[in-house]
Amino acid sequence: MSAYLIEWLNLLGRWVHMITGIAWIGASFYFIWLDNHLETPKEQADAEKGVSGELWSVHGGGVYHAQKYQVAPPVLPERLHWFKWEAYTTWISGMFMMALMYWYGAEIYLIDPGVAALSKPAAIIIGIAVIAFGWFAYDWLCKSDIGKNDRNLSLIIFVALTILAFLLCQIFSGRGAYMHFGAMLGTIMVGNVFFIIIPGQKDLLHAKATGGSPDPIHGIRGKQRSVHNTFFTLPVLFVMISNHYAMTYGHKLNWLILIVITLIGALIRVYFVARHKGRASVVPLVVAAVLLLGIIALMAPTKPPQSASNSTESKVSISTVHSIVVDRCSSCHAEQPTQPGFAAAPKGVVFATEEDTLRQADTIYQQTVVTRAMPIGNLTGITEQERETVNQWYAQIPR
Ligand code: HEC
Repeated sequence: MSAYLIEWLNLLGRWVHMITGIAWIGASFYFIWLDNHLETPKEQADAEKGVSGELWSVHGGGVYHAQKYQVAPPVLPERLHWFKWEAYTTWISGMFMMALMYWYGAEIYLIDPGVAALSKPAAIIIGIAVIAFGWFAYDWLCKSDIGKNDRNLSLIIFVALTILAFLLCQIFSGRGAYMHFGAMLGTIMVGNVFFIIIPGQKDLLHAKATGGSPDPIHGIRGKQRSVHNTFFTLPVLFVMISNHYAMTYGHKLNWLILIVITLIGALIRVYFVARHKGRASVVPLVVAAVLLLGIIALMAPTKPPQSASNSTESKVSISTVHSIVVDRCSSCHAEQPTQPGFAAAPKGVVFATEEDTLRQADTIYQQTVVTRAMPIGNLTGITEQERETVNQWYAQIPR
């Protein structure tokens, strides 16, 4: 298929994924907020009907009165709205993007020969296996005896995620590793909706309609899984935007950064969920802030560009650097890329003339020397010597 059409599929797939993701996470945040703000019903009649909580709110020019039933109303309404397609379409569009970018385009985005020289089929199979295995392992853990103790369960999940983040970063490009980590978490979230929460709700309504009593296990499991989903939300959203930040996935300790940011996201959510219910301890927020400062310090560039004055190296000319850039970058970064699979210059970054190279010295240095994110997948085979030349040239630019 032509690179141009792929570009459109990419754009449309991403757009849909964002829209459905916002609808899903937005509804989920709203219901958690709602649930945690319910008050005991004021009217005796409501309480007698089985209403356990109510809430008044104003939005978009109208006043809303929401009521939550202990189980379900005596007679089910004709129209009952379900919230599930937001989750399913987010997953479907997410998997579509995954397949398009990281599997179909594995040699660009998923495989980094500097990390592990995987073949394309091997990389794709590992990627799919990790996502599927994540769900089965997680579901098994939750249903096992370990799952009965929430604290132990969270600890084990966190340790397992740490090991997974580490392993993924040893086999995939940093960017591919991050994305598979996030896709696995996202799959667990959707799996929770599809296999646990929705069937539980169906069982409850079925029991209600047939006059039986619902199996309480559904309520317990559903609650546990939706709490997990809440804590996974912010980490998954981080992964979605992480591909813009090569300083994270391109770092030597990328796995550590990933797991720490995952923890920070979960802690922030812990705080907000607690705060909905009233006064909340700020400890999770403080820990999150300390961790954040910790990784900001850890990731700070340690190797400043060599200063020109104390360098005995000879002067690197712009034409030398520009020819490296032309050799190693311009097959993609040109008005008309020659690299298969590229229809337009990625991110609009073009290196055609020496002026282009000079003007973009900062980003060239950043991407080639600091984060080493470029050339992506090192498809054009830049050498260490050439990276070093870029480094020296950058250091010598008068500022
Ligand atoms: C095989 C194609 C390819 C090659 C070769 C390549 N790049 Fe890129 N470059 C990309 C892609 C794809 C992106 C967009 C990455 C993304 O989605 O964030 C990109 C993005 C960039 C960006 C923008 C980064 C940002 O986040 O805004 C810069 C700067 C860049 N490349 C510099 C370089 C330099 C310098 C070289 C040569 C050393 C190079 N690229 C070689 C494909 C390539």
